[in-house]
Formats: sequence, C-alpha cells, structure tokens
Amino acid sequence: PRKIIIDTDPGQDDAVAILLALASPDEIEVLGITCVAGNVPLDLTTRNARVCCELAGHPEVKVFAGCPRPIARPLITAEHVHGQTGLDGYDLPEPQMALQPGDAVDFIIDTLRAEPEGTVTLCTLGPLTNIATAFARAPDIVARVQQLVMMGGAYFEVGNITPAAEFNIFVDPEAAKAVFASGVPLVVMPLDVTHKALTSPEWIARMGALGTGAGRAVAGWTGFFERFDMQKYGSDGAPLHDPCVIAYVIEPGLFEGRFVNVEIETGSELTLGMTVTDWWGVTKRAPNATFMNRIDRDGFFALLSERIARL
Ligand code: BDR
Ligand code: CA
Repeated sequence: PRKIIIDTDPGQDDAVAILLALASPDEIEVLGITCVAGNVPLDLTTRNARVCCELAGHPEVKVFAGCPRPIARPLITAEHVHGQTGLDGYDLPEPQMALQPGDAVDFIIDTLRAEPEGTVTLCTLGPLTNIATAFARAPDIVARVQQLVMMGGAYFEVGNITPAAEFNIFVDPEAAKAVFASGVPLVVMPLDVTHKALTSPEWIARMGALGTGAGRAVAGWTGFFERFDMQKYGSDGAPLHDPCVIAYVIEPGLFEGRFVNVEIETGSELTLGMTVTDWWGVTKRAPNATFMNRIDRDGFFALLSERIARL
C-alpha cells in the first residue's frame, strides 16, 4: 500500500474521503491525519477527524492538530455549507480517542524524514497552511515527498467562495503559493473535476440502505451537503470534492488532466486565491502541476460505493 498523510478540515466531503482511505488497506496506509482550520475552526476539525476514524472502526489512527489560522490572514470558515459542526446531517457520539500530543506540522516533518525518501504521499483536503508551514520550517522534506495530491483550485469552473477562487486556496493563498512554488510533485483535483463527482438521490439512498453506521452517516452528510449545492448551482447533487483525492491514490486512471503551470494570485483583492492555470501553454512558465479536468464518474462512484460498504 501507498503511505499517505491526510491533511484535512472535515467537512462532510473530507469525512467521506477519510472513510474511503480507511476502507482501502490494500492500497493505502494512513500514517496519520493532520487537521487544519478551514471549513470550521480547528477544535471542530480535530473532533470531526476523530469521529470519522471511530466510525470507520480505526480509533488507532493518529490524529494531530495543526495550524489554527492561515499564515497571513484571518480564518474564513464555511458553516454556510457544512453547518455549525462541519459535519451536520448525521449525529455521531463525541470521540473517545485522544488527539495525539504534539503538532501536526512536526508530525509531517518527522514522518517525511523518518520514512524512506519518495515513499510518503501528502493528500490535502483543506487549506494548505500545515503543508506550507512544514515546507518553510524544513525545506529538506520537499524532495522526500512522493507526491502531493490536493483538492483545490479551479480553471474552467472558476470559483465557489468568490467568483474567482476555490475555497481551499482562497482561505490561505500565501500557503498555496508556497506549495505551488515548492517543486513538490503536484496533482490537483480542482472544481473542474469535483463538480462532475456529483451525488444523486439514488446513490444517497443506496448508502443509507447499506444498513451500517458508515452508510447512514454518508447518506446523512451528503444529503445535508447536497441541499446547499443544489440550491446554489442548480446542480443535480453534491460535489464529493475531497474523495477525489483519495480515489486518485487508489485508482489514478479514473482521472485525466494536463501537466501545466499554475500560479496563485495573492495580490489582487478581486481575484485573491485564483489558480491561474496556463491550460493552453500561452506562457513560457514551467509546468508545476498535473491539473485534472476529467473524471470517470461511474468508476469513481463504483469504487466509493464498494469501499463504504466494507465499513
Ligand atoms: C473544498 O472546500 C471545502 O468546503 C470542501 O471540504 C472542499 O475541500 C471545496 O471547495
Ligand atoms: Ca475539505
């Protein structure tokens, strides 16, 4: 299995991503989950990550608290999408498992130094604060990362939190800029992909009918999440943004994209956090990211359904 660290701000779609990873031990070994402030503040993302581990039957997973706010800006949260807890839609008991002592950023640094070079993949599902802080504090770890697979950004789909920016990049654009400039091997799941990974009422009903705690939670969470997106975008369902990252690690062939240059806007008030993507190669700027734009939706949902049913 591929060794991964999941850096996350759960979030219902983060939660589904965590379940997908923990249900896939043949392909994925979760070395730890590092939490960041994003969809909701850090005290809730650390709670929610542990709720997911317990729901998946894996209370032994190491969960760490990371950065409580972006590098250079006040925190912007998304309770309007995810509800007050970040996991509204299905109530679960408070977690019994403890948070790990120590800081998420130190865990990222120590793990990348301890594991053989090129064997640890970073899966980022939230703002990039923890990762950028780790890269700044320990630049030697960048070359040790096998791959960084992120949910973030948009090109043709442009923005969801502002007309120009996707939430994860917008919340901490300085962090995103540092990560895109770092030279780390980067795979990006932007809105161009995730807005095609839409739930349907039938799929949600099927999850609910699995008869398991995980199935009911996935149905409740995505049903909650769906209301927002259907109203806002007039779409058929809710975009399962973050599970795309984990699905890529399990089955990369589900996605297609281009290796292009992506720069992050940090100066403009109007387009702050925009992922300026040279899709057509109109500049001489060197490519730094594989920016996905296609997903095999049926294959993605087949994988997800099969794995959630295992829990
Ligand atoms: C991203 O922002 C959050 O609301 C979701 O969890 C996802 O990571 C989508 O823009
Ligand atoms: Ca997220």
